This record gives sequence, C-alpha cells and structure tokens, in this order.
Amino acid sequence: MGPTLYDIVGEDGFDRLTRAFYAQVPEDELLGPMYPPEQLEAAQVRLRDFLVGRFGGPQRYIEQRGHPRLRMRHMPFPIDGRARDRWMALMANALKKARFPAAVTQSLYRYFAQTATFMINRARG
Ligand code: HEM
Repeated sequence: MGPTLYDIVGEDGFDRLTRAFYAQVPEDELLGPMYPPEQLEAAQVRLRDFLVGRFGGPQRYIEQRGHPRLRMRHMPFPIDGRARDRWMALMANALKKARFPAAVTQSLYRYFAQTATFMINRARG
C-alpha cells in the first residue's frame, strides 16, 4: 500500500478542489437551481469532508452525517444523464484548476465518473 490520496493532496487539496467545483454551481443553469444558495458553503464543506474521509483522511463526514448513503441522499434531486454529465464537466474544470499530480487527477476523475453515473435516478427528461 502506497500513500493515500489524502497523504498526497492533503486537506488543502480537497478544499481547493471542492471550492473550485462549487464556485461554478450558482451560475450553472442546470445544476444551480438544485442547490439552495444559502447552503452552498455548507455543501462545499460536506463534499470536502466526504472526500477527505473517502481518500484516507479524518472521518469527519461520517462522524457528522453518518453513513454516506450517497445514492439515497441524492434521490430528492432530479439527476438524469444530462445533469450527471454537467456535474462531471464542472468537476473536470475543478480538477484542472487544482493542479494535482497527473496520476491523482486520473484516479479522482475515474472515481467521480463512476460515482456520478451511480447517482442517476431519473430517465432523461
Ligand atoms: C451526478 C450529479 C450530481 C448532482 C446533480 C449532485 C447534486 C447534489 C446536491 C443538489 C446536493 C445537496 C447539496 C448539499 O446541501 O450538500 C448534493 C450533496 C452531496 N453530494 Fe452530490 N451530486 C452529484 C454527484 C455527486 C458525486 C459524484 C458525489 C461524490 C463523489 C457527490 C457527493 C455529495 C455529497 C457527499 C453530498 C452531501 C450529502 C449530505 O451529507 O447531505 N455528489 N449533491
């Protein structure tokens, strides 16, 4: 077992990544309306803490929110293939901005792509 992604990018790396992601959300005409504007800061912290725990860092997300059950938690949001692709496009921009080592970017990209597909819960509308 080598170093975890958390060992490599640290708290700061996941913070920069999720900030770069959420900075694009309010102006996005497809995803923006799904996120309550007054919750954006809290949402950034939830995604950051989830990723920190998932990739080897402190388990703050699970301590505060319990078992992730991500698919279930996303059921209230209408996620079709188009929303999934948009989420991935914003995350791909955020990964570029974060400038992680190439191997890290590639692992995270694959992980996000798979997980985002798993979140699809509506037929294309
Ligand atoms: C596929 C497209 C996706 C859409 C449209 C979407 C949308 C949302 C929305 C609207 C929220 C509520 C914001 C909040 O208050 O936290 C949310 C929460 C969250 N999302 Fe996503 N999401 C997507 C994919 C993903 C993926 C791929 C991940 C993880 C890799 C993820 C992780 C999370 C987490 C951890 C939360 C907080 C859950 C909680 O504790 O309540 N989402 N998402």
